[in-house]
Amino acid sequence: MTYTKTAISLHWLIALSIAIVFGVGIYMHELPLSPHKLQIYAYHKWAGITIFLLVLFRLMWRHLHSPPPFPETMLQWEKQIAHLVHFLLYFLMLAIPMSGWLMSSAAGYPVVLFGMIPLPDLVSKNKELSDIFKQVHFLLNMSLFLLVFLHIAAAVKHHFIVKDDVLVQMLPFLKREKKS
Ligand code: HEM
Repeated sequence: MTYTKTAISLHWLIALSIAIVFGVGIYMHELPLSPHKLQIYAYHKWAGITIFLLVLFRLMWRHLHSPPPFPETMLQWEKQIAHLVHFLLYFLMLAIPMSGWLMSSAAGYPVVLFGMIPLPDLVSKNKELSDIFKQVHFLLNMSLFLLVFLHIAAAVKHHFIVKDDVLVQMLPFLKREKKS
């Protein structure tokens, strides 16, 4: 049993998109106010909402197509930690865009997806609330950064130290030649 092609594609598409949107978020924050800054903020929001929708689709796909089980060689506590990290990653991939959307609504800047589709405001304008969501957005992003680091470290350990197929299932071209 392995991941479907769709699950693999969604994993890498979302991972790459998050890396870019994360970098853009750090970059745009430092920019002086200008039309360029506002345009970059809009791109950041559009990409963030698109990621949110992709994650919803990914969760639906996962519900319909079970992921492969963990290898037998993993200890019970290792499986529990892996489950927890995966749950938290999904939670953050949804909570980060939601906190951004809440921040924009509270700041009084409605989100217009791709400049064409106005999204509803989630809360009414409130400066204090917007500052809180700004902090939340930042803290959730830093948590994601830490968890992704753990997730990558675990994948590297599985591939190079334990030498099982956990990473190969997400990167099939890494498949090792079978020794006869
Ligand atoms: C997976 C999706 C997202 C990621 C990874 C992400 C990441 C980030 C990061 C790293 C920052 C910089 C934080 C800081 O330096 O304080 C940031 C800022 C920001 N994000 Fe997001 N974001 C996402 C989605 C969204 C969405 C959907 C919206 C709004 C609809 C949004 C609105 C904002 C705004 C307005 C800022 C600037 C805050 C400020 O002015 O300091 N983000 N984001």
